[in-house]
Amino acid sequence: MKTKSFFHSYAVLLLMALPFCMLSSGCKKENQNAIPFSIDLSNSTYSALNTPGAYLYNANVVIARINATTFAALSEYCTKDNNTVGYNASIGFFVCSGCGGRFNLDGTVAFGPPPKALTKYHTSLSGSILTVSQ
Ligand code: FES
Repeated sequence: MKTKSFFHSYAVLLLMALPFCMLSSGCKKENQNAIPFSIDLSNSTYSALNTPGAYLYNANVVIARINATTFAALSEYCTKDNNTVGYNASIGFFVCSGCGGRFNLDGTVAFGPPPKALTKYHTSLSGSILTVSQ
């Protein structure tokens, strides 16, 4: 009976701790193991990136097509509270979906509460293959 009670208490503690872990910055790690990766822009999954101003997510990286020849790739989650960051072509910044922090194309903070820059990744396009690397 005591063993069962002990495990029940342990399980309750784990369930109570989980939301705090999910809200803290330490739990949402970048998928570093997936980098470098390549995506084929002729594949319908990624073909949105053939249009300047469009963006998508892959392996916890937000990738935006800035113009005909330039891409920007940054870590997907805001450095404030881990909300997703998307590209807003009309203003030329990456914008956090949480409280609107803005990031420059190189990942540095342009405006708002984010305490530090997003990780910037290198991009290279060869034919229809876009490679994202450290
Ligand atoms: S969580 Fe990103 S700006 Fe607030």
